[in-house]
Amino acid sequence: MQEDILRVLITEEELQKKVHEIGSRISEDYKDKNLLLVSVLKGSVIFMADLMRAITIHARVDFMAVSSYGAGVKTTGVVKIIKDLDLPLEGYDILMVEDILDSGKTLDYLMDTLRQRNPKSIRIATLLNKPDRREVNIKADYSGFVVPDEFVVGYGLDYAEKYRNLPFIGVLKPEIYAEN
Ligand code: IMP
Ligand code: MG
Repeated sequence: MQEDILRVLITEEELQKKVHEIGSRISEDYKDKNLLLVSVLKGSVIFMADLMRAITIHARVDFMAVSSYGAGVKTTGVVKIIKDLDLPLEGYDILMVEDILDSGKTLDYLMDTLRQRNPKSIRIATLLNKPDRREVNIKADYSGFVVPDEFVVGYGLDYAEKYRNLPFIGVLKPEIYAEN
């Protein structure tokens, strides 16, 4: 698997340091709130697993799954809820935990949908951010790293469902995409 990687963009150590910084900030900001972390599967699962352990206050977690991509690298703009949340959102301060904010379409749609369920508040924590690619007006409240307009994999992020288990964030060799 490693042989498919052109270069490492963010190392394991850099990821851990940043996730702990964000966890500390969230623990402070939400100490008098009713925190519910909502993770959007599958890309954010590793960020979620590390972030929740870096949070030192009471927190609940819930998961949902949407599809906005096929096997390719471009957004379709179509968002479909594949698995909905288990918990009702009323009374909770929701923090959406995302792997990457790219066009923003996925999260924009989800935020609209979840707001209709009357949470106390709803904010966004994203590990990666590609601000140059934004197509809708949406900003992250907590953002780990700004990445260039390149397709990245690892630490939960996939290409055609592979590479999620890489412990770092990297860029694939161009010939890997060419094979499809
Ligand atoms: P958006 O709706 O364009 O913001 O896309 C959000 C979703 O697209 C993310 O949650 C990822 O699953 C996927 N995505 C966007 N950019 C990348 C990338 O560079 N690598 C892997 N997945 C990506
Ligand atoms: Mg995702």
